[in-house]
Amino acid sequence: MAASLFEILQKEIQEHGPMRFDHFMEKALYHPALGFYSSGQIRTGCKGDFLTPVSTGPVLGQLLALQLQEFYATLEGPPSLFLCEQGADRGFLAHDLLDSICKFHPDLSSVVQLHILEPCPTLVQQQKSHLAKLQNNIPIYWHPDLSFFKPNSTPVFFYSSELIDSFPVRVARFFSGQWMERFVTEKEGRLDWVDRPADKDLLAQMDIWKIPRTEGFTAEVRPSAAKWIQTLSQKIQQGMILTLDYGMSAQELYHPSRFSGTLMSISRHTPSPDPLINPGHQDLTAHVNFTELIEEGEKSGLTTLGLLDFSAALIRLATPLLHDHQPMPEKWIRNFKHLTHPAFFGKSHRILIQGKNLPVGWRPSIEPL
Ligand SMILES: C[S@@+](CC[C@H](N)C(=O)[O-])C[C@H]1O[C@@H](n2cnc3c(N)ncnc32)[C@H](O)[C@@H]1O
Repeated sequence: MAASLFEILQKEIQEHGPMRFDHFMEKALYHPALGFYSSGQIRTGCKGDFLTPVSTGPVLGQLLALQLQEFYATLEGPPSLFLCEQGADRGFLAHDLLDSICKFHPDLSSVVQLHILEPCPTLVQQQKSHLAKLQNNIPIYWHPDLSFFKPNSTPVFFYSSELIDSFPVRVARFFSGQWMERFVTEKEGRLDWVDRPADKDLLAQMDIWKIPRTEGFTAEVRPSAAKWIQTLSQKIQQGMILTLDYGMSAQELYHPSRFSGTLMSISRHTPSPDPLINPGHQDLTAHVNFTELIEEGEKSGLTTLGLLDFSAALIRLATPLLHDHQPMPEKWIRNFKHLTHPAFFGKSHRILIQGKNLPVGWRPSIEPL
C-alpha cells in the first residue's frame, strides 16, 4: 500500500531530524500527489473545506472586470492586455471575470488574453475544463510559475485571491528571554512541536517587524512573500497588481494583543486545534503581512495605490451598478452582501492595489479621495 503523507513526513524526520514548520507546511499543502491542494480534491466552497470570496458567486469577478475596464481606459486602450491570475484553484474567478468581459465589456474581449500561473497538473486540468467554453473567445495560457510568464512590454492586470495566505510560514515563539523557532518532530507515533533557538535570518525578521518580546508571544513570518512581489515587479513593465486576501498591516498583525499568532488549520469548515495532525487533509494558513508586500513592492519599483477592506473597495467599485436605473437581482445582492458585510468578508479581507509605470498621479477610483 502507498505511504500516507504522515508516513512520508515521519520517515523524513526520523532520517534527517526535526523539520522547520515552513518546510512541513510546504509538504502538507503541496506534496505533488498527497498535498492538501495538489491532490486535486475540492477544497473551496460548500462541498470543500472552507469558503472564499470567490466561492460565494460571480459578483467578485464582475467587479474586477469594472476595475479592469478603468485600467484599460487609463492606458487609453492599448492594443493588447495580459490578465494574469495565480492561485486560481479550479478557475472560478477567472471564469467569472472572463464571462463578465464577454457579456459587458466587448471592447476588452478582443484585446485581453489570460495567463494562469499554476504548478499543480491536476488543478490545470480542472481549470481547463471549467474555462473551456470561454477559451473560444479569449485566449488562455498556462505556466507553472512566474519564471515562465513573459509579458515584455504588454500591460498586465495581475490579480490573486487568497494566494499569499497559503504561502508557507516560519513560526517563532519568545520563550525564556529568547526567540525560538518551532520545528516539527515525531514523538510516540505522532507529529509534535519542538523549539530550537532562532537563527539569524529569523531574528532579523523579528527586529524588522518589531515583534513584541513577551514571554510566550508567537508570530509567523513568510519567507517567500518578499521574493514573490520582487519577482512580479521585475516581470511587469507596466501594470496593476491586485492582491485580495485576509491580513493586516505589520503593526496590527504583530500587536501585543495578537499573542498567539494567526496560524490556522481547517478541514470540512471546522477549525482544527492542531496544525500538525492529518497532514494533507487540512488547510494551513496564516494572515498576510500587507506592510511587507507594500514595502518590498516599493523597493522594487511599484507604487502603492491603496489598501482597502472589501467593504470599502467593493462598494466603490459597484457604485455605477447600484446607481443604475435597473435594480440588481436578489441573487446578485445576496452575493454582494457576502462580499461586503462586516460579518462575512467585508472587514476580514482586503485588497492591496499596486501599480507600475502608470500615468503620474493616477489613482484608481476604488481608492477614496
Ligand atoms: C486558499 S486557496 C484560494 C483559491 C482561490 N483563489 C479562491 O480564492 O477561492 C489558495 C490557492 O493558492 C494556490 N497556490 C499556492 N501557492 C501557489 C503558487 N506558488 N502558485 C500558484 N498557485 C499557488 C493553491 O494551490 C490554492 O489553489
